[in-house]
Amino acid sequence: MLNINNNTDIGVIGAGTMGSGIAQVAASAGHAVYLYDANFSSCEKAIVNLKNGLNKLVDKGKLEQKKADSIISNIHIIDKLENFQKCGLIIEAIIEDLDVKRTLFGKLEDICEPTCIFASNTSSLSIGSISGNLKNPERFAGLHFFNPAQVLPLVEVVPSVLTSDNIINGLYDLMKVWGKTPVIAKDTPGFIVNKVARPYYGEALKIYEEGLADFSEIDFAMKSIGSFKMGPFELMDLIGNDVNYKVTETVFTEFYYDGRYKPSITQKRYAEAGLLGRKSGRGFYDYSKETTFEEKNYDYNKLNYIFTRILVMLINEAIDTLYRNIASKEDIDLAVIKGVNYPKGLLKWADELGLEFVYDELNSLYTLYLEDRYRPCPLLKKMIDSSKKFYNE
Ligand SMILES: NC(=O)c1ccc[n+]([C@@H]2O[C@H](COP(=O)([O-])OP(=O)(O)OC[C@H]3O[C@@H](n4cnc5c(N)ncnc54)[C@H](O)[C@@H]3O)[C@@H](O)[C@H]2O)c1
Repeated sequence: MLNINNNTDIGVIGAGTMGSGIAQVAASAGHAVYLYDANFSSCEKAIVNLKNGLNKLVDKGKLEQKKADSIISNIHIIDKLENFQKCGLIIEAIIEDLDVKRTLFGKLEDICEPTCIFASNTSSLSIGSISGNLKNPERFAGLHFFNPAQVLPLVEVVPSVLTSDNIINGLYDLMKVWGKTPVIAKDTPGFIVNKVARPYYGEALKIYEEGLADFSEIDFAMKSIGSFKMGPFELMDLIGNDVNYKVTETVFTEFYYDGRYKPSITQKRYAEAGLLGRKSGRGFYDYSKETTFEEKNYDYNKLNYIFTRILVMLINEAIDTLYRNIASKEDIDLAVIKGVNYPKGLLKWADELGLEFVYDELNSLYTLYLEDRYRPCPLLKKMIDSSKKFYNE
């Protein structure tokens, strides 16, 4: 068991998008939080932004003023790493750069107590690579929050091959106490969500590149037939084409150029041209002017083809994640519901569609394109051969 309770001081390093959100989560759970950034003005800015966000909740009647005040008063901004000395857990959310993260944790090892737990919020670096040269890598794990950390419940808890089970179980329990939905993921590229969700973007982009449909038709197919809250192009615009492209490229490279994760030239060109999405005013859609979605006279069969093609690719990726023992079936399904707002767990969805149907759809894409990205996962075939489903109910 971890020795972490309400009285444990929590350190957060990096006061940007993620660090400030994580600081709010820990402060809301009653901890004294110490927030540090290499650029002190980012800490000051973070406090102003957090106050504004909390005040909005108070105005809407979703939070009591007293609670909002106590959250802010629990967060202490600091300008020296030495101030972390008494912390029981330090969560790092700085720039995504392996050398910078390794250097930081090397310094923390000299400052903090041997009992202090270290965690990184990295999205794409391996936990083992950040902690490998520490003196005590067994106290180091990944705690991958989703953006915005104050809102999205999912946290992927990621052990490296060197992390002790105690630490992982303790962090898992702590995330529950903080009101989060933790899942355990192996230290593999993209962990669960950033791996399983790749086809939502990649297959949509491929359908567009083939000239089968435009952005709004693809988005409409996923929302109207699949009940996804956002279509792939709306979502890429929200995430940012630069960020989303980079994640795909990293997963592709880290999986030794597996064709399933091949990035899209279209997205690369959009990112290069500065069409980053909402944050730059224009991405796949133009946000500089008020546009209302016009429902056209879409061909239902085509919409259904688009939806089915993207969905079976997502399901295949979820099955592959189970096949590789990256996470349990329950955690894979929970991760996409709580991390990217999918309407249903993908393995549950596979059961509902019928595994033979999923296999046949993938196989016909594979036969047509002769591309590795469409190969059905062997686990899918094995389950069909033994008449199994993912869930028994
Ligand atoms: N933005 C997301 O959607 C998201 C989601 C999950 C995980 N992550 C991960 O979280 C981490 C932070 O991402 P972000 O989006 O919050 O970035 P950000 O750019 O908003 O914030 C990073 C902050 O770290 C500070 N910083 C840089 N180097 C530092 C150092 N050596 N010491 C202390 N502070 C330093 C910067 O000044 C900046 O304020 C990254 O590892 C990223 O991969 C991001």
